[in-house]
Amino acid sequence: MISPARKPEMIHVVGKADNRQHAVIELVSSPDHGLPTSSLRARPILLGLTSNNLSYARGGDLLHWWKTYPVPSTAPAPYNDQSSWGIVPAWGYATVTESNIPEIIPDSLLWGYWPTSTLPTLLCLERSDPEEHWVEVSNHRQQLMPLYNRYERVLFDEKNLDDMAWSTVFRGVWVAGYLLSEYVFSSDPRAREPIHPLGAASKLPWSADDADLSTAVVMVLGASTKVARSFLWCLFNRPRESGPLGLVQVTSSPDVLQELADKGWGGKSKTLAYTETKQATEWIKGLQPLKLVIVDCGARDNILNQIYRNIQESALSSCKTVILQIGSQQKVYTADEVQAARSAMISLGKIQYNTSGIQDTVINREGAATYFRKISHNWKDWLAHRASAIPDMRLVYGQGIAGDNGIYGGWERLSNGEARPEQGLVYAL
Ligand SMILES: NC(=O)c1ccc[n+]([C@@H]2O[C@H](COP(=O)([O-])OP(=O)(O)OC[C@H]3O[C@@H](n4cnc5c(N)ncnc54)[C@H](OP(=O)(O)O)[C@@H]3O)[C@@H](O)[C@H]2O)c1
Repeated sequence: MISPARKPEMIHVVGKADNRQHAVIELVSSPDHGLPTSSLRARPILLGLTSNNLSYARGGDLLHWWKTYPVPSTAPAPYNDQSSWGIVPAWGYATVTESNIPEIIPDSLLWGYWPTSTLPTLLCLERSDPEEHWVEVSNHRQQLMPLYNRYERVLFDEKNLDDMAWSTVFRGVWVAGYLLSEYVFSSDPRAREPIHPLGAASKLPWSADDADLSTAVVMVLGASTKVARSFLWCLFNRPRESGPLGLVQVTSSPDVLQELADKGWGGKSKTLAYTETKQATEWIKGLQPLKLVIVDCGARDNILNQIYRNIQESALSSCKTVILQIGSQQKVYTADEVQAARSAMISLGKIQYNTSGIQDTVINREGAATYFRKISHNWKDWLAHRASAIPDMRLVYGQGIAGDNGIYGGWERLSNGEARPEQGLVYAL
């Protein structure tokens, strides 16, 4: 019998040396090979793209993100050269097409970290804690940070398609803001041992004083990034006496963010456009903080250097200044810019933040069941209140991998800094 011709699948590939280079390749999926023990194949159906995906490409070698889903060796040349081309993963949902894991039957829905591709992808999974959580155990993914090897079986609910779409855009980065407020700058650092921004495995010290915001002013750069919005929402919900004394937001969208801050912070917040940062020092001085915490979520063009200079030249120079590096500007960095960013880490004494390192620490301390119960509760609460947390934001739907309206077009927009602060890019595949 002649089998019907298979429809080609699409894969978005990105150049490892220059992340601006990208292409869509077509691949006819080969007749299915048997599945290894405890494994399944799943096809991504709904993925989100944010600046975070640019980081997966920029740090793909250093942090092993390129190893998650290597380009198939059957891809056409030159894209089959895995040293030059890679697949950038994205957060979202996939449906199971084949499985030999009894608890995850075909058509089940999984949440996790997927290839930007329509090709059914092989996962080798081991059951984890809590129930419905699974961990990817393939050899080629062992160097990946644990956060990226965790999958969750979830239930499909037609009524909640909107929640699913927002999850693809926010859930992957939301946890970063949550952990920053809850564990690095814990609202009760004397009661709960604070965690260094890189996690306990770094063996770097992080004392209750480091974690204490009660005498600090917090300045958030790139305040309209999704990771910053999550952090700010958590800050708003803390007991007021735990601090900070005041909040400065620096963003290209000052009006909407000031309106939001006014609701939670009244006169204790100031929101500035990038051109207005000179006003920050005087305002902060008025609050008489002992500490200034700058959280850089990916500010535009060297603004941090300028702010740092302003601080050093003002009466705030005696104030303890702590700079946390969360993210980078929404653009593709040249090799020289990557080098300059590394040098700035040292010259400004920036402290790198790592969500996976903190999550791993909390899981070790509290147990996975307790941690995920707590985070799931808070995430669902945020999702239910998103209309007040992010009133300006809207989803921008794309379709498929290829073309301007697909993942290809999304990558163009991110690479060129064209994804706007109020947009959440989500793709139905
Ligand atoms: N270290 C960690 O563990 C960790 C965890 C999560 C995320 N991150 C990183 O945090 C950063 C932010 O991620 P995200 O997903 O939250 O970002 P996002 O929402 O996609 O960022 C969009 C924002 O980027 C800012 N931006 C800066 N330069 C821009 C430009 N040239 N064009 C357009 N927008 C620009 C804008 O904010 P303003 O207008 O307010 O400047 C815009 O609202 C990424 O670098 C990500 O990798 C790190």
